[in-house]
This record gives sequence, C-alpha cells and structure tokens, in this order.
Amino acid sequence: MKKFGSILLSLVLAVSVLAGCGSTGQKASSGSGTQVGIVLPTKDEPRWLQDQKQFETLLTEAGFTSEVLFSQGSSATEKTNVESLITSGIKVLVICAQDASAAGAAVEAAKDAGVTVICYDRLITGTDAVDYYVTFDSVAVGVAQGQYLIDNKPEGSGIPLYLYAGAATDNNAFLFFEGAWSVLQPYIADGTFVIANSSEAVALQDKNELTYDEKSKILGQVTTDWDFNTAKSKAEAHLTANDASMKGDVLILAPNDGTSRAIADAFAADADVSSYVITGQDAELASINYIQAGKQSMTVFKNTSTLAADSVAMAKSVLNGETPKTDTTYNNGNVDVPSKQTDVTVVTADNYKSVLVDSGYYTQADIDSAQ
Ligand code: BGC
Repeated sequence: MKKFGSILLSLVLAVSVLAGCGSTGQKASSGSGTQVGIVLPTKDEPRWLQDQKQFETLLTEAGFTSEVLFSQGSSATEKTNVESLITSGIKVLVICAQDASAAGAAVEAAKDAGVTVICYDRLITGTDAVDYYVTFDSVAVGVAQGQYLIDNKPEGSGIPLYLYAGAATDNNAFLFFEGAWSVLQPYIADGTFVIANSSEAVALQDKNELTYDEKSKILGQVTTDWDFNTAKSKAEAHLTANDASMKGDVLILAPNDGTSRAIADAFAADADVSSYVITGQDAELASINYIQAGKQSMTVFKNTSTLAADSVAMAKSVLNGETPKTDTTYNNGNVDVPSKQTDVTVVTADNYKSVLVDSGYYTQADIDSAQ
C-alpha cells in the first residue's frame, strides 16, 4: 500500500512536471478547475515577466482560478500549453502568440472546446477563432520612436539612419515599423536622413504608405527576430559593411529595449561612431539603467498593468455572461476582432522618475538592482 502510494505520488509528480513544460505553473488560487488560462511567449525577455506579475496579482484579486504558462519561443509548446489549459477546464484563454499565424491551430482547439479567446498584445491572424483583442496602440509606438529620432537629430542633412525591426512572425513588428516609417520617410525622401543598412528600404524611400509585402521586404533585411544576439550581430555586420561616411553622428530605429541595448553596445564599440540616438520600447529595468547612463535614448512605456487589467475585466464579463467593452476593431485577415486599445508614453532620462517610479510601477530600488 505504502509502495503503491509512493508510485502514485511519483506518477502525479511526473505528470505535473510534464504539464508544466515551459511554464511557471502558477495557480493563482485553488478550486475545481482553472477558469482563466494565460499563455505568454517567453520568460527570457523581461517584458513578459512584467505581464506575468500583473496577471497573477489581478487574477488573484478578482478571485479567479488561473494559470500562467510560457511557450518559450515555440509554437509547439504554445499548443501544448493551450491543450493542457483546455483539459484544466478554462472558460477564457488570454494568449500572446509566439507566431501570429501558427497560433491559429491552438486557438481553434480552444474555440472548439467552448473557450472564449482573447488575444493579448499580439493579434493572431488568419483564423476566425479569436473573440477579442487587448492591445497597446502599436502604430503609435512606432510613431513615437520615429518622432523621437526626428526631434533629437543632429544638425544638417545626410544623417545616417539605421533601421531595425521585430520578428516578421509578429504582427506588431509590422505595426511598429509602419508607425515609424510614416514619420521618418519624409525626412529620408528629402535627404535629411540616409538609410544606412537596407537596400529594400532605399528602393521604397519615396513611398510613405507601404503595402504588407513592401514592409515584409524591408523586415526581411532588418529583422532582429526579437533576439538580442541576432540584433547585435546584425548591427556589427552593418557597421563592418559601412565605411566612416555612414558613421559619425547616427540615428538608430531599434524596435524594443532588449534589441536596443544589444544594438547600442555594437554602435558604442565602433570608433567611427561619434554619437547615436537610439529608440526602444517596454521600459525594461535594464533599459532604464541604460537611459540613465546615456547609452539608450528613450523607451516607450507600455503599462502592462493596464493591459492585464483590461484582459481581466474582459474575462470577468465573459464569465458573467456579459459582452466585454471594446473601443475599436483590428482585422486579422479573417474577421474584424473587437478590441480594447491602450495608449503609450515616451520615457526618457527626464521623466522616468515621474512616469515609472512616482506612479508605483517600479521602485527606484527595482531600477538600481537591475544595474
Ligand atoms: C511586444 C513588445 C515586445 C516584443 C518582443 C511585441 O509583440 O509588443 O512589447 O518587446 O514583442 O517580445
């Protein structure tokens, strides 16, 4: 009996280890089954740990049983995560997809099981199985990045502009780039800026509104895949390929904080680069330190507590049999998805204290300990 008990215990442990693959396996509260499942792309980028923290706090406060799982950059793990949440009995799935189109199969399985699907931050494309979308204004993120470069450009014309973008599998990467290009392009067209690292962007430099295919061509050259190492080696390759005439005082469109720090390190190491202005987004702690040290110029703060709160409010409505409040729609190629959109804030060395510390989002100790 004792032996059977311990075998049973080992089995239960083994199954729970397997089920928690790529996850923190966090249960916000116990109960008969999980009501809300959250699937986030990866633990390896600080951005998503911010979201995890907000969800765990808010869902516990709301009294829901919930579980947060991470896909660790794999669509296959993402699908397994969704399946295990379906088995746990979730009624609402909040999912930030690893790959916009590959995630279709996972959410279709959820939909077939009667689960309401909320896309979180990244839209899942090419499927009907998306009920709602909670997002930041991603085009506005790109506009803010581009406008910052314009407002902080060196004097004169012919200023080298290095363009970088996110992963082509992420719909947001296109929205960020679209926003940035919309404001940068007139300055490229009139010769104030000279694109330093993309022949595809040069070929399209007289066009302000790009088609999806045109953006794809540029992204094909300047994508970082949201990966720090890819970002760094791409930046190094661009610097090696260019001579001093494309260096000096330069502008760099970097899509987010992790890639910004990596690209900034590469530019700082080049003796022919005398100064650079570089963008970011996510207000990651490490980037606040880079900003304080003058190594990154700005970030775009996306308040994950607002986004998580919007998702929890939506889940609450769904569980109460009500229709969640939305304020816009996003087309995912198949359907117009009712969406709730949140504004973003530019953060620099001048305002990070008031925006991030005084608001209670971070403590100064959080920032200092990330140094
Ligand atoms: C998010 C960004 C994030 C990036 C990389 C995007 O979809 O909107 O905040 O930096 O993915 O994870």
